[in-house]
Amino acid sequence: MAENKSWVLMVTAQTPTNIAVIKYWGKRDESLILPINDSISVTLDPSHLCTTTTVAVSPDFTHDRMWLNGKEISLSGGRYQNCLREIRSRASDVEDEKKGIKIAKRDWENLHLHIASYNNFPTAAGLASSAAGFACLVYSLAKLMNVKEDNSHLSAIARQGSGSACRSLYGGFVKWIMGKDDNGNDSIAVQLVDEKHWDELVILIAVVSSRQKETSSTSGMRETVETSPLVLHRAKEVVPKRVVEMEEAVKSRNFPAFARLTCSDSNQFHAVCLDTSPPIFYMNDTSHRIISCVEKWNRSEGTPQVAYTFDAGPNAVLIARNRKVAALLLQRLLFHFPPQSGADLNSYIVGDKSVLMDAGIQDLKDVEALPPPPEIKDNVPTRKFKGDVSYFICTRPGRGPVLLTEESQALLNPETGLPK
Ligand code: DP6
Repeated sequence: MAENKSWVLMVTAQTPTNIAVIKYWGKRDESLILPINDSISVTLDPSHLCTTTTVAVSPDFTHDRMWLNGKEISLSGGRYQNCLREIRSRASDVEDEKKGIKIAKRDWENLHLHIASYNNFPTAAGLASSAAGFACLVYSLAKLMNVKEDNSHLSAIARQGSGSACRSLYGGFVKWIMGKDDNGNDSIAVQLVDEKHWDELVILIAVVSSRQKETSSTSGMRETVETSPLVLHRAKEVVPKRVVEMEEAVKSRNFPAFARLTCSDSNQFHAVCLDTSPPIFYMNDTSHRIISCVEKWNRSEGTPQVAYTFDAGPNAVLIARNRKVAALLLQRLLFHFPPQSGADLNSYIVGDKSVLMDAGIQDLKDVEALPPPPEIKDNVPTRKFKGDVSYFICTRPGRGPVLLTEESQALLNPETGLPK
């Protein structure tokens, strides 16, 4: 190891979250987290949704510790332990000449870690924080410990933290191949195309207010596999065909096919939730209203303009075919779901605010003046649902994990290895 004087060596990384367009729902192995079908996701721009993690090692640390959003949490859970064990077993020699630190491969077994992780979006919003979180943990530890394996191999480790995390090791569109091996070594993520391939897409997330305590993905999918006769049909007959079609749609930037597959797969995922005993309801009335607003508009245009998808919660993820469509979509959403009276528009629409500019909306008066969308028939009374959406996030497809090299970006103090 290094000479006697005390030292702290650390690495900081940033990892995006992702949203599945062909859903993972159901495991064939609970502890290794092996799925019953392939899935495909789009990585979201980390400037709007990401996790930052700093990992540090020092001979002075007495045990492994972790802080999430500033609060210390336990690392004793099986998922953390599996990731830590798998990464440690692949560690190599590390040398930092400037700091005079040398760590031999065998030393990693006895050295302890400090980990600090921070999400740039509210964890309570029900957005996939575990995906970005475990991907970032594994990626940053791999860099600290000089693990030689590529991101696909790292994805098989992140998968053991949370299934969807394996897809956050890449930007753009990503496929998680379910694999066949019992040990899970072939259950890995691969990049289909990078984030530049289809950069006209704009993604709007409606964070829907929810009073109901949701069933976690982990227990929800376990109950579905145990009780739903439909899920096996989905995994065996439906998803394999959809995965092939989705890969083709993404590669050829075929938006109508992409939207049809994305919406159908989200709807089927929620159908197998309903087929679970007792049934699981993730979407609520607001989610359903958003679906019908998009369906009506898509139908009136003759070809899909927007795709929708919902994970294990009521939030809508809407993918618009281009910026122009995104502005028209935002107008429609703000017409139906205006903010509470007196709210600040700036905190109602977050992320890439240029979509708001494109929609010609500068203040609440502009929201109030929005006309009803033309596809709503005159004889149907138009209703508004003030306050049913907490806020909107405007984003786009984004890049994969990166290292942050500026010391100011680290979440741990470089002298003490404790949170700043
Ligand atoms: C609906 O990855 O959160 O978001 O593997 O048990 O941690 P665990 O579950 P998780 O499930 C995600 C389910 C989903 C669909 C998807 O992301 O593919």
